[in-house]
Amino acid sequence: MTQLTILRYPDPRLHTVARPVAAVEARHSQLVSDMLETMYEASGIGLAATQVDVHERLIVIDVSEKRDEPMVLINPEILWASEETRLGEEGCLSVPGIYDGVERAISIKVQALNLDGQLQTHEAEGMLAVCIQHEMDHLSGKVFVEYLSPLKRNRIKTKLIKQKKDEER
Ligand code: NI
Repeated sequence: MTQLTILRYPDPRLHTVARPVAAVEARHSQLVSDMLETMYEASGIGLAATQVDVHERLIVIDVSEKRDEPMVLINPEILWASEETRLGEEGCLSVPGIYDGVERAISIKVQALNLDGQLQTHEAEGMLAVCIQHEMDHLSGKVFVEYLSPLKRNRIKTKLIKQKKDEER
């Protein structure tokens, strides 16, 4: 397993729209194990392929307390989302140290392929529902800070650019 580099906002590659996975292949198993290792190491609960500069529709998630229930969603599609939404605090491994409120559907039904190429349907609510919506946004080239006001977003951008410069010194 290899730990991958996570792109950080405002890296323009985070705005790439991912293409669907045409066929689930052995390289996807490798990618998933590398992404899981990267996510666990960074103490994250979800990671989209976009964040490791692979622009295919694939996400990994683990919202379990023991961090032993990895979930892989390939070509995920939301079949249904509740009208009821909730404003919850979100963070992102590509936006380190920043947390802010985003409005999301509280429950969803999603369809996706697993690593065996089988189509599965998942019903999700609470943190899992939020996480799936957040990660699917990444596949569309969207980072959660884009839901915030331009003022807040610019502050975050400035802060992260400075942080990166300080690290490179
Ligand atoms: Ni994220």
